[in-house]
Amino acid sequence: MIIYNSLEEFNSIKHNLPKLSFVPTMGNLHEGHASLIDIAKKTGNEVVSTIYVNSLQFNDKNDFINYPKTLDMDIELLDKKGCNHLILPDSSILDNIKSIKAPIKSMKLCGAHRPGHFDGVLTILNRLFEIINPHSVVFGKKDYQQFLLVKDFIDEKKLNINIIGANTIRNNNGLALSSRNILLTEKDKLIASTLYKTLKDVEKNKAYLNSEYLKTKLDYLKSSGFKVDYLMSCDTESLEESYNINNNDLLIAVAAHLGSVRLIDNLVISKL
Ligand code: PAF
Repeated sequence: MIIYNSLEEFNSIKHNLPKLSFVPTMGNLHEGHASLIDIAKKTGNEVVSTIYVNSLQFNDKNDFINYPKTLDMDIELLDKKGCNHLILPDSSILDNIKSIKAPIKSMKLCGAHRPGHFDGVLTILNRLFEIINPHSVVFGKKDYQQFLLVKDFIDEKKLNINIIGANTIRNNNGLALSSRNILLTEKDKLIASTLYKTLKDVEKNKAYLNSEYLKTKLDYLKSSGFKVDYLMSCDTESLEESYNINNNDLLIAVAAHLGSVRLIDNLVISKL
């Protein structure tokens, strides 16, 4: 794996490279990221990844400061998975960066609780796409709203990029793998797996889905120790609240804090 210590360094050699599949990350890599690299490898392209903790997408300064950093282990994992190129952008990535304003969809779900978050995500990705010029990009669907907004952004800007959404990887108890899990105790991890159990429960009872039913699930999460940002049933494209499971698949999405750790998860349930 070739490591580039800035975007400029990569930019100066990129004309020699074949088609690329891109896996953007903020580091602290786990099996979920490893699966994204596997998917990128399957495209047959050379794989490029980035590790950059993007200050623009953190609305909480402490969250940014405490974001786990494990660079040596990350490099080892990427190398082992067969990633071909790793870019470690330095702070010059932000020089004269063009700010992107995320569309209205970004105000729903996580965006309602993290003002400016998706503006920051799209701003940094736009810069990375410009420099890397990937043929394909791979995003985990644990961050469903991010996946959707990037897909829309690529469509709207008519970028020649194929976006691939990857299924969420979970531990044995169903807890979605996340860089933030490192901040949870073993006991917390067990409690955190209640999020996925709740989503599966909603799926099992989808014939009875309505706002009152979801409220009972939200209350249950609260009584289990979570501070819940949202538990919502929505249209998979517009992210508008919806319970119309007769005609459409629905996205059931949750975000909740366990102590100081914010966790998200979701499940797309198929129409009846
Ligand atoms: O999902 C992430 O890790 C980040 O939001 C991303 C896509 C790397 C942009 O900073």
